[in-house]
Amino acid sequence: MMLSPELFPVPLVHISETNSTNNYLQTLCAQEKIEEFTTVVADFQTSGRGQRGNSWESEPYKNLLFSFVLLPEFLEARRQFLISQIISLAIKEELDTYTNDVSIKWPNDIYWKEKKICGILIENDLMGRNISQSIAGIGININQEEFHSPAPNPVSLYQITGKQYDIFEVLKNIMLRIQSYYNQLKKNDTSSIVAHYEKSLFRKEGMHRYKDADGEFLARIVCVEPEGRLILEDESQTKRGYMFKEVEYLLK
Ligand code: BTN
Repeated sequence: MMLSPELFPVPLVHISETNSTNNYLQTLCAQEKIEEFTTVVADFQTSGRGQRGNSWESEPYKNLLFSFVLLPEFLEARRQFLISQIISLAIKEELDTYTNDVSIKWPNDIYWKEKKICGILIENDLMGRNISQSIAGIGININQEEFHSPAPNPVSLYQITGKQYDIFEVLKNIMLRIQSYYNQLKKNDTSSIVAHYEKSLFRKEGMHRYKDADGEFLARIVCVEPEGRLILEDESQTKRGYMFKEVEYLLK
C-alpha cells in the first residue's frame, strides 16, 4: 500500500523519474527555502550517483531511492561524521527488523553478510566552521529479484527473505528513526551514537584482508575516530589509520 504524503512523518516529494534524487533536492534547496527533513523519493533514476564517481543502478519501482535534507547549523564541520553515523544506524536498525546479519561497513555502506544492501551518498555544504546543509541520498535494495549491473556484490531484502515489501512503509520507518537520532545529536548526546556505531560495524571482530596503496595485508579493526578515521592493527601490531577511500576491504 502506498502512503499518501499527508500521512507521512516528513514533507515528501514523490516523483516518477529524475536523473538523481540528490540532484533534484539540491536544485529544490537552491530555488526555495526547504523545510528540514524534506524527502524526495523517485521510482527511477536515470543517472543515480554513487560514491567515488560510481553510478547507482536500480530497476524502476523495485527499490528505495531517496534523498532528504538536514540543516545542522549546530554541528561543526569537523564533527560531520556524526551525520553519517546516525543515518547508517537508522537504516541498519530498520533492516534488523527484517533479517539478521546486517552491519555497517565503514564508513557508511550497509551490508548483509558480505553483500551490499544499501549505499549512502552525503553531500555537505559548509558555512564557516559549521554545516549549513546536508543532503543525504540513500539507495536500499528492497524488492529487486536479480542484479545485472557491474556492481560487485549487491543484494536485496527480497533475495534474503523471499518476501516483497511496501517500500514507502520502510521509508517512513527509516525517517522516524533518523529523526529520533537527529534529536539525540541536537542534544549533543553522542556517546551512545558512537557506541552503537562501533558495535554495528562489519568485521568488528577478527583479522580480515584489506588493501591500501602499499598492497594487501591482514588486520583487525581497532576503532573509528570521531572524525571518521578507521584505525586498523596489522599482524605485526602496527596501527594504520585511513580516511575514506584510502583502504579497500577485500571481500570473500
Ligand atoms: C554508494 O556508492 O554506495 C552510494 C550510493 C547512493 C545511491 C543513492 S540512490 C538515491 C540518491 N540519489 C543518487 O543519485 N544517489 C543516492
